[in-house]
Amino acid sequence: MSIESQSDTDKVTAGLAELVKQSMPKHVAIIMDGNGRWAQAQGKPRVVGHKAGVKTVRRAVSTARELGIGSLTLFAFSSENWRRPDKEVTLLMELFFTVLQREIKLLHKNGVRLNIIGDISRFSERLQKQIAAAMEKTADNDKLVLNVAANYGGRWDILQAAQALAKKVESGELSSNQLTEEGLSQHLCMQNQPEVDLMIRTGGDYRISNFVLWQAAYAELVFTDILWPDFDEHAFKQAIDTFASRQRRFGLTGTQIETLQAE
Ligand code: IPE
Ligand code: IPE
Ligand code: MG
Repeated sequence: MSIESQSDTDKVTAGLAELVKQSMPKHVAIIMDGNGRWAQAQGKPRVVGHKAGVKTVRRAVSTARELGIGSLTLFAFSSENWRRPDKEVTLLMELFFTVLQREIKLLHKNGVRLNIIGDISRFSERLQKQIAAAMEKTADNDKLVLNVAANYGGRWDILQAAQALAKKVESGELSSNQLTEEGLSQHLCMQNQPEVDLMIRTGGDYRISNFVLWQAAYAELVFTDILWPDFDEHAFKQAIDTFASRQRRFGLTGTQIETLQAE
C-alpha cells in the first residue's frame, strides 16, 4: 500500500501545485561566463570577448521576450570582479556605460523594464545617474523585466535585507521574534518577482559564484560548456527544454508530484 494518500497531497499549497505544473520558467537567471576565454582562444584581448558578449545579451533578451519569460536576470559584474586587473575593470565600466546609453531606447521600444540590482554606490556618479535614468525611463514597461546584476553578490543582497530588518527592530517597528523568511525576502532585490526557476551558467564551470543565493534556493541548475558569446537562441531554448524535462519536487515525493500533475 502506498503511504501517500490524497489527503497527503492536499497539504500542498495552490502555489506549489502551480509551480509543479509549470513547464516554462517565469524567471531565468544567467551567469554569463566565458567571455575572456572566448577572446583568448582567438588570440584577442579579453575585452573583445566582453564586447561580443553584449551581442549575446541582446539576443538573450529577445529570446526571453519571444518565449514570454517574465524575468531575466543577467550576472554582468560580481562583487568579486573588482579583484580583476584595473584595466579590465575600467574597460568593463566603460562598456557598461556605453551599452546602457546605446541600448536603452530599443529596450524601451520593446517594452522591457530595466532593473539594475547590486550595490551601485561604488560606481562613478556618471554611471549611477545613467542607471537611474534608464530605470526611470523603462519603469512602466511590462513585457519583460531585465534585471542586470552589477556589483552584485548574493551574500551582499541577504546582508542588506538583514540590515533593513535590523533597523525596523531597532526602531521598535518589529520585534526579533517577528522576523520571518517572507519578511526577509521582501527586502531582497527583485522582491516583487517570482523566485528564480532556472539558473543557467555558460563557460563550463559548475559553481554559483555568489549569484542569487536566496532567490535561487529551488532553481533548476543548467550548466553548459558553451562560452557566453556563443550562447545563441538554440542553446537558450535547449536549456528551457532541459528545465521542462526535470521533475521539480520541492521536498515532495515523486508520486505526489505525479498526482499533482495529473490534476
Ligand atoms: C564573464 O566572462 C564576464 C564577467 C565576469 C564580467 P569572464 O570575463 O569571466 O570570462 P572568462 O571566465 O575569464 O573566460
Ligand atoms: C561570474 O563569473 C560573474 C559574472 C558572470 C559576472 P566569474 O568569471 O567572475 O566567476 P568565477 O570567478 O570564475 O567563479
Ligand atoms: Mg569567468
